[in-house]
Amino acid sequence: MRFTDLLVITATISGAVAAPTEAKKRASAFQFTGVSESGAEFGNTAIPGQLGKDYIWPDHNAINTLIQKGFNTFRIPFMMERLIPTRLTGSINETYAAGLDDTVKYITSQGAYAVIDPHNFGRYYGNIITDVAGFGAWWTTVAKRYATNEKVIFDTNNEFHDEENDLVAKLNQAAIDAIRGVGATSQYIFAEGNAWSGAWHWVSSGTSEGMGKLTDPQDKIIYEMHQYLDSDGSGTSTACVSTTVGRERLVEATAWLKANNKKGIIGETAGGSNAQCIQALQGMLSYMKENSDVWTGWLWWGAGPWWGSGASGYIFGMEPPSGTAYTGVLPSLTQFI
Ligand SMILES: *[C@@H]1O[C@H](CO)[C@@H](O)[C@H](O)[C@H]1NC(C)=O
Repeated sequence: MRFTDLLVITATISGAVAAPTEAKKRASAFQFTGVSESGAEFGNTAIPGQLGKDYIWPDHNAINTLIQKGFNTFRIPFMMERLIPTRLTGSINETYAAGLDDTVKYITSQGAYAVIDPHNFGRYYGNIITDVAGFGAWWTTVAKRYATNEKVIFDTNNEFHDEENDLVAKLNQAAIDAIRGVGATSQYIFAEGNAWSGAWHWVSSGTSEGMGKLTDPQDKIIYEMHQYLDSDGSGTSTACVSTTVGRERLVEATAWLKANNKKGIIGETAGGSNAQCIQALQGMLSYMKENSDVWTGWLWWGAGPWWGSGASGYIFGMEPPSGTAYTGVLPSLTQFI
């Protein structure tokens, strides 16, 4: 028995987690690869909702397992209303925030990036956010909390949709200004656009126009686009349109990023656990690799403790050890991590 085997056994017996080390990535084409760690945004009709009943925070051990797989970026969806209840200019609910703090601390202490993701679709209590200053105030309060953690990434909002492109651009600029305004100057900001931030509609939806004009004194904006490979691009079917659909759906956005000298990330993607989807995903990630001058990485949707497993589990579940995608898709994507 080798010494290293002994260590493994000891760790298994004691249930100890590997000592926190930098989540060093192997030589990779991408700066960011990872997973959305879903749970705290669940039960979004229950506000504030109850921990363990309506929503749940991500599981440390699952995150650690995914880090061992080479992932270095974890996006944490949560609800704006639960973090700052009643009004955008209000104050933090410390009970809910404690869960977010704990998750961020765990991820970043492993040397990985934690993406703060208000998973609100540009809405607050169900209404489109039109109060640009209020949105800025919300971000001022939140960014202050994480201003000194360099491994935090701020995601302006999940999937704006069915609103004015101009409003979406203004909200993004307000978030950027608020984040930089509290001294969070070293962190990346992931900016999401209108039309569900879909890569395939980035230009044709018109969202690119205002988004392209965002300014950041730190020049660390990364455009976060989402791309699913089912027929309507919603990420609700296990079927992918073709083996080449992934690559094809990124052509428009890739050209835009290049022409405008911008960086992008696919902040959500997934496909079913089947041969056609796996080929489509590999094709998309190969294409991103070929264009890694503009594509900084990709994040799978999604992991999290409540997705279940097996036949009754979520079709894209990446939660170890038995999520559908964790067992059926991830082994075919390791070369892109
Ligand atoms: C703060 O969050 C906790 C936990 O979700 C909840 O029980 C409590 O009602 C919340 N307070 C407010 C004012 O929303």
